[in-house]
Amino acid sequence: MTLTARRPKSHGALEASLDDAAQRPAVRYEARHITKAFGGALALSDVSVAFEPGEIHTLCGENGAGKSTLLKVMAGIHQPDDGEIVLGGETLHALTPRSAQLRGIYLVPQEPTLMANLSALENLFVGILPRGRLRFTVDWKQMERSAGEFFSQVGLEIDPREPASTLSIAQQQLLECARALAHRCNIIFFDEPTSPLTAREADVLFAVMRQLRERQFTLGFISHRLDEVLEISDRITVLRDSRLVTEMTAAGASRDAIVSAMVGHDIAQRQRPHREISTQPTVLELRGLSHPPEFSDVSFTVGRGEVVGLAGLVGSGRTEIAEAIFGLRPSQGTVLLDGKPFAHRSPHRSVVAGLIYLPEDRGHNGVFANVQLTRNITAAVIPKLQRAGPLLLPAEEREMAERAAERTRVVAPSLEAPMSSLSGGNQQRAMFSRWLLAQPRVAIFDEPTRGVDVGAKEDIYKIIDEISASGIAVLMISSELEELVFVCDRVIAIYEGRPVAEVVGDEITLERLGTLIVGEQAK
Ligand SMILES: Nc1ncnc2c1ncn2[C@@H]1O[C@H](COP(=O)(O)OP(=O)(O)OP(=O)(O)O)[C@@H](O)[C@H]1O
Ligand SMILES: [Mg+2]
Repeated sequence: MTLTARRPKSHGALEASLDDAAQRPAVRYEARHITKAFGGALALSDVSVAFEPGEIHTLCGENGAGKSTLLKVMAGIHQPDDGEIVLGGETLHALTPRSAQLRGIYLVPQEPTLMANLSALENLFVGILPRGRLRFTVDWKQMERSAGEFFSQVGLEIDPREPASTLSIAQQQLLECARALAHRCNIIFFDEPTSPLTAREADVLFAVMRQLRERQFTLGFISHRLDEVLEISDRITVLRDSRLVTEMTAAGASRDAIVSAMVGHDIAQRQRPHREISTQPTVLELRGLSHPPEFSDVSFTVGRGEVVGLAGLVGSGRTEIAEAIFGLRPSQGTVLLDGKPFAHRSPHRSVVAGLIYLPEDRGHNGVFANVQLTRNITAAVIPKLQRAGPLLLPAEEREMAERAAERTRVVAPSLEAPMSSLSGGNQQRAMFSRWLLAQPRVAIFDEPTRGVDVGAKEDIYKIIDEISASGIAVLMISSELEELVFVCDRVIAIYEGRPVAEVVGDEITLERLGTLIVGEQAK
């Protein structure tokens, strides 16, 4: 371990720990008339929002509305072009992430930024490692003692020496909260923390947020899940196209009011469309696929043009099953494609065989952050095109990307912009474009609407409808049961790594799936 211990003067007594943060005076944190553009494109235009202590203040808005940018400006990551950031009446100038943190401001970002190879403990204290008795040494014992205290405050039960990479996403979010506390921050912003979490995991996070609210922390939150927005928020601000549209108190808010403010018009509530059930030739078949303890004895089929859902809690093995089909992890048992065994599976062979996989964690598995949008979209077809003959011309590649991006309505600064400059939801749409372009026979989508706004969800459902109608066999994993109800022809409930039930057609209801995924009522 080669971490240099630097101990800023102000962190003499880590043991005093938690209540340090509480000792910071409760404080109001404001953005006043903030304008921010990226290369001419406005991300925020004259936006004023005040975050009050003892309140959870939520930002809502469509993908690209400017929510993350506002929080990043307030956390010192971006400099505003105009306007002021005011902390308890004092205007802050030239805020940096470091100076923001020293003033008690902490942003839990949209894409996880923990250092995967460092332990939970090290992640907790990065930047404020308590010094040991000798110079350049670290007092691990003291760290573990304090860590235990911070972890228990956020209900995190882990071995502090575990590397961050082995923690679940839910645990990583809680670790971020613990980290904010360890850094004595009392203004905490959460940028879509719940989008990768199940409802149950989100509840754990909400319990922590409510405790912090009790302690007069100043809390900001972003989410596309409107039910939870209504449940947790004291105040809601809606942004649209870089402007503030409206601010409402929780008492005066409703789903419809938020949605119409977000999109500028009303959106009808979703209904499950009635679908004809017809028997189609099987395209994908699993026979006894196993990789204990993650999953065992998984057998099911997906027919041509069929949308089959995998329902289950996070940790039930759904993602592992998808990864095994695609060849990302080993497994026993058989996968058949069009009735023929598909052996020696690997991601490359899968793509060549017409299988695609949109992973749940776009931060790690799919997005090339520093690469331009065009290439991110064409990435999966380039190997095929190259095999087909002479080199792909840049103009052709660009045109192909442009058409694919239009199909999923990606909004980006330009086709040449790096993926990192797209909003989170637009990155997700771009990944969809990539896989659609590949014209697969089987498409596996893992949490396809994570982090996309209500309007874009509708788009993605439409795309899934379209691609299944074109004959592609779709396997879809989602933690949003509502979405499975809406989209799937058949749903397989997975409990503790095993399929426990199969529900077909109009029998797919929220209630039925809800009881199946917790292991009740298995047939
Ligand atoms: N680093 C950057 N460079 C260029 N443009 C950027 C950058 N960051 C954000 N943008 C642009 O600013 C706009 C607002 O993006 P922002 O990330 O704030 O949206 P958001 O409301 O958080 O959306 P989402 O719900 O999709 O996360 C978008 O048009 C985005 O493309
Ligand atoms: Mg965002």
